[in-house]
Amino acid sequence: MVVFTVVFGVVLGLCILGTALLRWNEVKYSKKGLPPGTMGWPLFGETTEFLKQGPSFMKKQRARYGVFFKSHILGCPTIVSMDPEINRYILMNEAKGLVPGYPQSMLDILGKCNIAAVHGSTHKNMRGALLSLISPSMIRHQLLPKIDEFMRSHTRSWENKVIDIQEKTKEMALLSALKQIGTESSSISQAFIPEFFKLVLGTFSLPINLPSTNYHQGLQARKNIVHMLRELIEEKRASLQTQNDMLGLLMNGEENKYRLSDEQIIDLIITILYSGYETVSTTSMMAVKYLHDHPKVLDELRKEHFAIRKRKNPEDPLDYNDYKSMLFTRAVIFETSRLATIVNGVLRKTTQEMKLNGYVIPKGWRIYVYTREINYDPCLYPEPLTFNPWRWLDKNLETQNNFFIFGGGTRQCPGKELGIAEISTFLHYYVTKYRWEEVGGKLVKFPRVESPNGLHIRVSAY
Ligand code: HEM
Repeated sequence: MVVFTVVFGVVLGLCILGTALLRWNEVKYSKKGLPPGTMGWPLFGETTEFLKQGPSFMKKQRARYGVFFKSHILGCPTIVSMDPEINRYILMNEAKGLVPGYPQSMLDILGKCNIAAVHGSTHKNMRGALLSLISPSMIRHQLLPKIDEFMRSHTRSWENKVIDIQEKTKEMALLSALKQIGTESSSISQAFIPEFFKLVLGTFSLPINLPSTNYHQGLQARKNIVHMLRELIEEKRASLQTQNDMLGLLMNGEENKYRLSDEQIIDLIITILYSGYETVSTTSMMAVKYLHDHPKVLDELRKEHFAIRKRKNPEDPLDYNDYKSMLFTRAVIFETSRLATIVNGVLRKTTQEMKLNGYVIPKGWRIYVYTREINYDPCLYPEPLTFNPWRWLDKNLETQNNFFIFGGGTRQCPGKELGIAEISTFLHYYVTKYRWEEVGGKLVKFPRVESPNGLHIRVSAY
């Protein structure tokens, strides 16, 4: 009886304390003018529910509070916006104080000159420098030949093997980007890869700088990568040859009107590698998965690629006109990005108190421009859970206002065409050479699309 009374007392005490803490946190954030929503526990907010329940948490909150609500996730008071109109406004209005709001660990590791950390004229200049490297003309003359050569050899020896397609597409995205940047003549590729993987992991971790943390290792990896890139810059400066790769073009201060400092060049190179890495690799892996599960789509895709091969000799590379003719491939890539939702949304933060959608948003709050649900809107995409690339051919969905797969506004993805060219070239060599069956591997869709133990497939000749 005594034990029961003590246990009952402790449980009751905890309940009262819990309710009081939750209430205290709600009162703390009950400033007039804020949108509806709940703030969860002091400090942790609703992070656990958000990470555990993912999209269902967002749907539940939307059902209770509408498409514009407040929460406290990932260490910061946050406004979640799911309304396409408001999202477009937020993405278009960086100059009014809606700047990128990525976590501190990400900014620390990617460097103070990385594109998400700079605003105004500096952002314009760095974005201009990047766009000059990946323009359609650069893709046609410089990048596509390199991508073609790389994809052809990367997919060469998969026959009669069980491979982890997640691992292969990750290697592919990174090595292909390193080739475009211009690391071929140096020996850095091998040392670079493990450091880059540590850097990526660090950007997703809590910013706790202790020797065993991923954040700490991410910072160390950044130091090593900066050192390797500095050496590469020195090497290239010492060489008298003209350098047509990305690094060489950025370094060419005389002719390059953007005139970036070495520090800016290094952070831009890290930005290019980082931004294209997971997006390109995960889309490629998921395309392989969906094609395996949808034989009719695979047949149609093969038709497109064999038609291209028919026009060529076996060893001829793909050229820009071939790439531009891959309309069904492009549709497969968009449908993969939509259905798998590789990007759930983008983050912004307020630099001053402001009115948004009739509410007052305090300075320093994060805004989660959550675009995931738009991908499953049956008015835009009938039977939204069906993998149907043909829908992208019927209407021009790519140019409609609600297309957020590559973001929107002033920070819309500058690497869109480059990314699509890489995935299309990979698919070209993959589907014309191979058939495959799945051996196994579980897929997780939130917070990132990944296969925690790898996605294994058995590959044979087509
Ligand atoms: C399928 C592939 C890709 C997808 C789905 C994708 C998606 C996105 C999205 C949604 C954004 C907007 C971020 C924001 O507004 O905060 C973005 C920005 C960006 N992307 Fe991509 N991306 C892809 C490939 C690439 C590639 C290959 C590169 C390499 C150059 C790249 C470089 C960038 C950069 C530098 C930004 C930031 C732009 C800025 O802040 O002005 N992306 N991407």
